[in-house]
Amino acid sequence: MKAAVVYYTFGGSTKKEAERIGAELEAPVYRVREAKNRSLIGSFIPGGWQAMKRKKPKIRPVDFDLAQFDRIYLGCPVWAACPAPAFNAMLELLPAGKEVEIFLCAGGNDPRESDAETRRLVEARGCTVTKLYTIPTGVMPGKMKE
Ligand SMILES: Cc1cc2nc3c(=O)[nH]c(=O)nc-3n(C[C@H](O)[C@H](O)[C@H](O)COP(=O)(O)O)c2cc1C
Repeated sequence: MKAAVVYYTFGGSTKKEAERIGAELEAPVYRVREAKNRSLIGSFIPGGWQAMKRKKPKIRPVDFDLAQFDRIYLGCPVWAACPAPAFNAMLELLPAGKEVEIFLCAGGNDPRESDAETRRLVEARGCTVTKLYTIPTGVMPGKMKE
């Protein structure tokens, strides 16, 4: 089964996890970046609100095509108990018919009501969510550095 890891990071912890998963699987790891750089303040306001409202920011053009893979590992930080807004743009990179494993990097390990909608959004792309889980990074929102 051909796998790829696709992630967004703001502070670097999702990058670390994505690279660890990619190395374990011997899979390519692709980073998605927002078109506009965010400041730390901008991650909270309006970032937290955008995450809750499932707003889709513009992302930079990507130089990879997920059509050639069977399973996609999607990684994203949690903002305001939802995937960071870039996740909503990453959804559009998913071709139908893929297996998708979602890993969400969060400061803590609180249960999230938003997970059901996160799954639904991936499934609405015609994909199957094989797993959705949290990686608690211990990096709490107030402690993030730019
Ligand atoms: C705007 C913002 C909101 C956050 N909201 C939450 C939250 O609701 N729950 C949580 O556990 N962590 C929250 N965090 C912490 C991040 O999820 C955590 O630090 C994560 O490891 C960041 O990943 P990154 O370094 O790849 O950006 C928030 C961080 C930011 C910047």
